[in-house]
Amino acid sequence: MGEIRPCVVAFSALMSPPSTAVVYDHHGPPDTVTKIIQLPPVEIKANDVCVKMLAAPINPSDINQIQGVYPVKPQLPTVGGREGAGVVHSVGSAIRDLSPGDLVMVSPPSAGTWQTHVVKDKVFWHKLDKDTPAEYAATVTINPLTALRMIEDFVDLKSGDAVVQNGATSMVGQCVIQLAKLRGIRTINIIRDRPGSDEAKDKLKKLGADEVYTESQLDVKNFKSLLGNVPEPALGFNCVGGNAASLVLKFLRQGGTMVTYGGMAKKPITVSTSSFIFKGLSLKGFYLQNWLDLDRNEECRKMIDYLLGLIREGKLTYDMELAPFSEFHTALDKSLGKLGSQRKQVIKFKF
Ligand SMILES: NC(=O)c1ccc[n+]([C@@H]2O[C@H](COP(=O)([O-])OP(=O)(O)OC[C@H]3O[C@@H](n4cnc5c(N)ncnc54)[C@H](OP(=O)(O)O)[C@@H]3O)[C@@H](O)[C@H]2O)c1
Repeated sequence: MGEIRPCVVAFSALMSPPSTAVVYDHHGPPDTVTKIIQLPPVEIKANDVCVKMLAAPINPSDINQIQGVYPVKPQLPTVGGREGAGVVHSVGSAIRDLSPGDLVMVSPPSAGTWQTHVVKDKVFWHKLDKDTPAEYAATVTINPLTALRMIEDFVDLKSGDAVVQNGATSMVGQCVIQLAKLRGIRTINIIRDRPGSDEAKDKLKKLGADEVYTESQLDVKNFKSLLGNVPEPALGFNCVGGNAASLVLKFLRQGGTMVTYGGMAKKPITVSTSSFIFKGLSLKGFYLQNWLDLDRNEECRKMIDYLLGLIREGKLTYDMELAPFSEFHTALDKSLGKLGSQRKQVIKFKF
């Protein structure tokens, strides 16, 4: 036997590329506290996957998180954004089912998608068919899934029933219209009065909305005559609050339910005593985060695959504007409403 000599192997950790990221280190107005900086490479541990991002949306909840008024509060400093999709760049040594080039989305949503390269444990990545449009993969969880769960979870709706919603131009609202239509459910839609409301109505009708009203059109005495041949809805969705929520309540039938999921007008919901006593209305809330804890991840991914299937078949679509990452702060201003009503802003990363 020859001499056994000690063998020294130099283990060099697998590292990500540097990442250009939208970072904030304190809460405040999103347009002033967010900065675009370059983050150094990070170690890709055995179970990690490093993804080159393709698309990530700016959602109202991302804005609320930066403002510090959202229940989910990542430790600061942090990178903004919670949804997104991209292509696998490199994988840790224990990863077997993902390889460079695979299309993946963050699932469940988790902090830090507004950056060029994201490194996360494999449990946060859901592999997708290569023909899935990245901007839809990046946006399918928070809003379309909310629309789906709200239609399914509160009232046993049958084909021919109706639902009423405010904030119908929101991404959730657009999905409610289409998912309801696929189930034979009619929709009564309320939008706010603003420049371009006629075009907004036309768009929603093209998506399948049965009725669309601005709030001011509903300032009438004989409210229910507006329903025409649409039945009185048993279920309503409130995205806005204030007067827009009162209008949803007015449309609901005896014993109906209003589900509040957003508060875009930042105004409280006012309910008359008689709505409870004589009309027997129920008020409920919906919070998707309760669905998204890791125990239900597989269930969520099945619903996401169902929604992405509808998208690929052309049965579900929604308005988005793809904004180059280099113009992030303009996209943020649009999302903040500083430039009037805008489509959902989705950051598009370019390499
Ligand atoms: N509870 C949950 O689990 C959950 C899940 C998803 C979303 N959400 C919430 O749902 C809401 C909609 O989200 P999204 O991403 O679908 O929205 P989005 O696509 O970003 O659209 C924003 C919507 O809000 C309306 N809006 C903006 N400012 C308003 C104001 N001051 N008064 C009345 N309406 C206003 C817009 O109307 P215009 O078209 O007229 O500009 C548009 O319909 C947000 O509050 C979000 O936080 C909640």
